[in-house]
Amino acid sequence: MTTWNLQGTACHLLVCGGSSCKKRKSGDLVQAIRKEIEKQGGEALIHTTFTSCAGRCGDAPVVIAYPEGVWYGDMSPKQVKLLVRKSLIGKRFNKNMLYTFGKNGMKASTKEGLKGKKKGKK
Ligand code: FES
Repeated sequence: MTTWNLQGTACHLLVCGGSSCKKRKSGDLVQAIRKEIEKQGGEALIHTTFTSCAGRCGDAPVVIAYPEGVWYGDMSPKQVKLLVRKSLIGKRFNKNMLYTFGKNGMKASTKEGLKGKKKGKK
């Protein structure tokens, strides 16, 4: 994967690599996402970044998708096929949503999204 030319990128998936997300296997998750992108032929369209803490540790592992502007929590490798398929066509995954970004900024998708969970609570 190259990072020096992002022209043509349609979606940026940020996978949290902070300590809480890593404990909940975000390393496996980002690898599964990258493999699925390759499998679906989306390398030129979807860029991935393994980040530091996104600040939603209780919802680990967290994935953020732009330009859709959606934050997802409790993600697992089982969900990546659909996440990648939706991302390739500019649609939302519509599961596990915490926040969505719109005209008026960030909006919680659920009560849990608004409050957040305490670390370690699942
Ligand atoms: S470690 Fe992922 S949100 Fe904090």
